Amino acid sequence: MPRAEVGRTAAGIVADALSSSPAAVLGVATGSSPLALYADLVARRADGLDTTGVTLVALDEYLGLSADDPRSYAAYVRSSIAEPLGVPADRVHVPTGSNDDDALAFERTIASLGGVDLQIVGIGRNGHIGFNEPGSERTSRTRIVELAESTRRDNAGPFGGDVDAVPARAITQGLATILSARRIVLLASGEAKADALRAALMGPVTADVPASFLQLHPDVTVVADHEALGTP
Ligand code: GLP
Repeated sequence: MPRAEVGRTAAGIVADALSSSPAAVLGVATGSSPLALYADLVARRADGLDTTGVTLVALDEYLGLSADDPRSYAAYVRSSIAEPLGVPADRVHVPTGSNDDDALAFERTIASLGGVDLQIVGIGRNGHIGFNEPGSERTSRTRIVELAESTRRDNAGPFGGDVDAVPARAITQGLATILSARRIVLLASGEAKADALRAALMGPVTADVPASFLQLHPDVTVVADHEALGTP
């Protein structure tokens, strides 16, 4: 499908899920890929879709940025998803903290919500999902991680292009955490994602390509454009 269709198609999947289950727990990814999806959901809200009963759970967060910092994922979730969808702040959960107890607390939060009904994920050029960089194990849970140099470079935009300004560490849901979502929608757009997407979908299931573990999940929908799929 053309790039413009990716957000709309994914938003249709989310909207269908919310129509039948308005109090669903929606796992949200950050990054540029899902922005069109969120914008489309906001438009559907204006057309009558009730998004206000949803609970939002984010995948990851940089270490060392306050939730007020506009470059934080907490700020992204607040300004691009929660506020425009009318989700109150007490139903928005973004991992935070810098140690094992903080990571465990986030796992408990997800468990207390009854798990994630529908998880949106993007994919990094090195095959990461959330901030599970190559080498992450299938059994990994929420934890503190070091970011790959290439990921920091790819994510330098909001930091004025300065890779050194991008935090070196993050807190992220693990692969086992992500895989425990009942349903997963993977979004990918653009040629830069083609190698990672092919390896994730068609290559061996390996920690070298963390997104390849999605092959083990029984209900994954891939929404991608021609460039990412390498199709004409
Ligand atoms: C970041 C996020 C990931 C996201 C990835 C791709 O590293 N932690 O969750 O999937 O970026 O981002 P983009 O969609 O901007 O290419």
